[in-house]
Amino acid sequence: MICSPSFLSSDFSKLESEIKSISNAKWLHFDVMDGKFVDNKTYNHKMLKEVSEYSNQVFDTHLMIENPEKYYIEYVRNGADIITFHLEATNNPKKLIADIKEKNVKAGISIKPNTDARELIPFLPELDLILIMSVEPGKGGQKFLPNSLKKIAFLDKQRKLNNYDYLIEVDGGINIKNAKAVKEVGCDIIVVGSFIFNHKNRKAIIEELENV
Ligand code: DX5
Ligand code: ZN
Repeated sequence: MICSPSFLSSDFSKLESEIKSISNAKWLHFDVMDGKFVDNKTYNHKMLKEVSEYSNQVFDTHLMIENPEKYYIEYVRNGADIITFHLEATNNPKKLIADIKEKNVKAGISIKPNTDARELIPFLPELDLILIMSVEPGKGGQKFLPNSLKKIAFLDKQRKLNNYDYLIEVDGGINIKNAKAVKEVGCDIIVVGSFIFNHKNRKAIIEELENV
């Protein structure tokens, strides 16, 4: 399984060494929050530019922002490899998916815990990735919500039935125990923040998560 560490829980006063402490992960998860779509505000596209100075990981960009159709282009320009916006944040997901893909960047949609996975059905043929939130978006260190297992299983079934090729990613409260559970129901990528950053040997725990 791919582990996409979220550095939301890292020490931003020594960011370069924090990012280097998780450099064995192939992906890196950026949690962009605008203080409007979610209460918290973290950073914007400038963070991708800064981190690209010392990381060549896959930049997995999670936009927890309003009007993603207005701002996605800044993330394209600053090195995002994947841009995932929230279904709840835009009224024209189809167009935004096309716009992102037209820039040769992978397009993902994320849904909050209370959003039904069936709302994604019209977009499944075009999506490169689906991000299932297993916590309410807005902060790290929350408890995993088990209802995400059913959503992952539903989406895994949909792609098998229809030969879709989107990846399934889950984000929030992931640890070594529930990483096994989400993998069993079809998850491909796990976003992990506090579970990694609370460990002193972060590279070892990333290895363990990738091999559950
Ligand atoms: C929530 C964030 C967090 C973060 C992961 O908005 O998206 O889920 O990436 O944090 P942990 O692993 O600490 O829940
Ligand atoms: Zn995230």
